Amino acid sequence: MPGDKSISHRAAMIAALVNGTSRIKNYSTGADCAATVSCLRQLGVQIETRDGELIVQGVGTHGMSAPVAPLDCGNSGTTMRLLAGILAGQNFTSVLTGDESLRSRPMQRIIEPLEMMGAEISSDKGLAPLKILGRKPLQPIEYKLLVASAQVKSCILLAGLSAGGRTKVVEAVPTRDHTERMLRWFGANIAMGDGSLEGETFAAVAGPVILDAREIRIPGDISSATYFIAAAALLKGSSLEITNVGINPTRTAFIKALKQMGCAVDLVDSPQANNEPCGTIRVSAEGDLSQTGPLCILDGNLVVGAIDELPLLAVVGSQIEGGIEIRNAQELRLKESDRITTTGQNLRAMGAEVDEFDDGLRVSGPTKLRGAQINSRGDHRIAMAFTVAALVADGESEIEESDCVAISFPEFFQLLDSVVER
Ligand code: S3P
Repeated sequence: MPGDKSISHRAAMIAALVNGTSRIKNYSTGADCAATVSCLRQLGVQIETRDGELIVQGVGTHGMSAPVAPLDCGNSGTTMRLLAGILAGQNFTSVLTGDESLRSRPMQRIIEPLEMMGAEISSDKGLAPLKILGRKPLQPIEYKLLVASAQVKSCILLAGLSAGGRTKVVEAVPTRDHTERMLRWFGANIAMGDGSLEGETFAAVAGPVILDAREIRIPGDISSATYFIAAAALLKGSSLEITNVGINPTRTAFIKALKQMGCAVDLVDSPQANNEPCGTIRVSAEGDLSQTGPLCILDGNLVVGAIDELPLLAVVGSQIEGGIEIRNAQELRLKESDRITTTGQNLRAMGAEVDEFDDGLRVSGPTKLRGAQINSRGDHRIAMAFTVAALVADGESEIEESDCVAISFPEFFQLLDSVVER
């Protein structure tokens, strides 16, 4: 698998903020991570690609220079939200913008904490473009997340690097912890632990922080791997092994859910890569999944841990006895597309029975899907989830705007072709 998208963004951004030169191996090949590199370059950070590695000349916590034009984050929410945290602590004004989808996604969730820390941010009623007037030093804050979002948590922690004191973020439901792990790898003093209420966790950083360069190897992207895992679990006679993939426990809820649905899938640990758990995933289509029932219900921690995989889980759910119900997943409406609507519409077009709720959907199963015209709405995860649906369906499907897979996984169709037996 190409390098993990979430970890790649963090590696490039943090490497830009340290003193010295960092080398990053297996950096994500997706357009989102390329947007991060291009924004960092506009901020005066020298980044080269040599022999497939990214070489980042860090400028130190406050060494970035004012960009001469707006920073274009493309389709990437992670670029915009994490970079906003860094820019809040720089002594200049910058503008973050993006494509139409990104300009329709909520940014108030980062504006509020960054303003509490002393940055001044203007926006179009909580939407990008964001104009950020940074401040040095920022005020440290203690902040309880209002939505379960690793991007918001990471934004605040990255701003905390420039604060004069301890910045603490409390989460009711734990989200992916790649920023904390990457900061620790670069030598930052990060505290992590349980919060005061049942189930709460926290992460805290004591600023101002000065960090040194490191070597990084990005593990394979488990979110990209999930399409292959699901296809192998659903297509009878399959057997697939995926090596060198990130298996951070905050990202493996998809595997848990598949097991809950009776799929034969296993994780085997291998040595960590820069504090990130790595391993091998083995999956095969053994039994008849449609006999496994009953209805699989996903909410709470599983929903947060599999947030990017929910459209694909809905597809898998259409193939099992009892089907699947996904609840407490309102956040899905605020992704690259409204993923509750796009998943429901496309599954229905393929003949599945779907009930849509404000916070999720219920898909009946098992249904023999039929090939259909799939509208991806330019959303990479919808295009890939429905490619898996198309593989298990009778007849041909056509996926509109399928080139959007390049947002996270340009090699997707080619790699899929290489493992599918004809
Ligand atoms: C991401 C966090 C999640 C996820 C996104 C990547 C990250 O978004 O959906 O694809 O890298 O931190 P939210 O933080 O908005 O839930």
